[in-house]
Amino acid sequence: MLNIVVLVSGGGTNLQALLDAKKDGKIPNGEFVKVISSKPGVYALERAAKAGVATAVVERKGKTAEEFETALLAELKAAKADLIVLAGFMTILGEKVIKEYPEKIVNVHPALIPSFCGKGFYGLKVHEAALEYGVKVTGATVHFVNEIPDGGRIIAQKAVEIDEGITAEELQKKVMEQAEWIILPQAVAKLCDERK
Ligand code: GAR
Repeated sequence: MLNIVVLVSGGGTNLQALLDAKKDGKIPNGEFVKVISSKPGVYALERAAKAGVATAVVERKGKTAEEFETALLAELKAAKADLIVLAGFMTILGEKVIKEYPEKIVNVHPALIPSFCGKGFYGLKVHEAALEYGVKVTGATVHFVNEIPDGGRIIAQKAVEIDEGITAEELQKKVMEQAEWIILPQAVAKLCDERK
């Protein structure tokens, strides 16, 4: 059984998809042991609490990058994390954490990497960029986290068609529903099965 820690910064719909998959027996070889938020008061923390998962807040604000990393690493160690999932985590991880967990950190990105990814491409901005470019297909990617933002080995991808006249908000929702909430739990379950 792998100890899974989920890192969040916001609403936590991807976290919910993971918790629901666990509840439905779809992640038999993984246990959600802690949810860590980089922001206090976010709804993702409530979702974790409702599912009976321990929570912690390691605020990015008011800390140097090094202080943040040290505090985050302490929480990950305390949780005995085997697998770390970034689910709407809006802070780029530093080298110390990445080096400590090689191919043990996965991220979900709301585009088909290598399009619309890297520094500055997060949340709604990704979908705005896709619409501005005029691509007809976008999607989501689950990948390992290394020192290059959105640059680690790809684990899973799913394409989503862009409808004429769709807004960035509508596209974000469509990509979540048709791609992220499906491929993230599947990828986590598969990694747990392989590493149990
Ligand atoms: C999701 O679309 C996720 O892919 C994206 O932020 C949203 C978070 O939603 N993540 C990134 O852009 C990371 N670069 P959620 O909190 O409801 O899961």
